[in-house]
Amino acid sequence: MENGNLKIAVQKKGRLATKTFELLKLCGIDVENNSEKLIVTAKNFNLDILQLRDDDIPEYVQDSVADFGIVGENVLQEKQAECRIVQQLGFGKCQLRIAIPENESLNRIEELEGKRIATSYKYLLKNYLKNKNINAKIIELSGSVEIATSLGIADFICDIVSTGTTLKMNKLKKSFVVFNSQAVLIESKNNDIQNGKLKLKQNLQMRIDSALKAKKSNYLMMNIPAGSLERIVKLIPSLKSPTILSLADKNSLAVHAVIPTETFWDIVDDLKNEGATGILLQPITNIIL
Ligand code: PRP
Ligand code: ZN
Repeated sequence: MENGNLKIAVQKKGRLATKTFELLKLCGIDVENNSEKLIVTAKNFNLDILQLRDDDIPEYVQDSVADFGIVGENVLQEKQAECRIVQQLGFGKCQLRIAIPENESLNRIEELEGKRIATSYKYLLKNYLKNKNINAKIIELSGSVEIATSLGIADFICDIVSTGTTLKMNKLKKSFVVFNSQAVLIESKNNDIQNGKLKLKQNLQMRIDSALKAKKSNYLMMNIPAGSLERIVKLIPSLKSPTILSLADKNSLAVHAVIPTETFWDIVDDLKNEGATGILLQPITNIIL
C-alpha cells in the first residue's frame, strides 16, 4: 500500500504494545486502538501503523517496508538486521537471563559447561557463552521456552525477564544476565527514503524526542519572598532560565521553571527553608527546547 504515508512497525500484542501506543498519543497522534488490524492509519498525521509480531519488525524496517520500528533491543540484536537505533525509548526495560529450576543452584558461570540451555535468543546466547569461554548446547525454541526444563528437554533456559512473573509461574528463578534491553526506535541502514517522507520522518522524530524529554521533566511553580530570589534561583536545576513574575504583594515573587523530575525531592526542603510557599509541580506533555 503506497499512499505516501510514513510507516511505523510496532508490536501487535505483548509487553511493548500498550506503551508504544501511549507514546504515539503523547506525540499528539490519534490512532484507532484495534490490534486485530495489520495496518491502522492515524487520524491526524500521515502515518500508517503496521502491527506485527515483534520478531518480524527488524526485517520490515531493514527492507524499508516500514520507515521506523519500535522494538525491544533484544529482538533487534538477535535478528542482526541492517537497522540502526535512532533513540532509546526508556520503556520495556527487561533482561535476557539464564534461568534455572527453583530448587537448583547456579553460582558460577563455569557450571554452564556441557549443559543444555533452551532459548529463542540463539545468537545472543551463543555470543555470551563464547565470550565466557563456555561450551554448552543451545536448544533453539521459537516459543514457550519456560516449559523446557519441566519437559526435560533442557537443563536451563535463557529468556526475557521483566517482572519475573513468567519465571515464578513456571517454578524457575533468575540467574546470570545475558543482555540488558529496552524499547528502541529503529530505522533502516539502507537510507532510501523519498523527500516528502523525510519531512514526516523528521517531524515524528521531533515529536518523540519532545515527548520523552517531557516525561523526565516537570513544571515547578512557587511563591517566594523577594529577598530570597538570588538564593532560590541558584537552587533550581532549571532547563532554561526560570521565569520570575511580580505579584500584587510587593514583598513576594512567583517563580516558574522546568526541572528534571528526579531533582524535585532533593531541593524541596531547601526551597521551604528559603521561604517558598505554594509549591506546585505539574506534569508536562511536550517540550521543544
Ligand atoms: C517475554 C518472555 C516472557 C515474558 C516475561 O516475552 O518470553 O513471556 O516476556 O515477562 P515477565 O518477567 O514480566 O513475566 P516478550 O514480551 O519479550 O515477547 P514474545 O512473546 O514475543 O517473546
Ligand atoms: Zn516475540
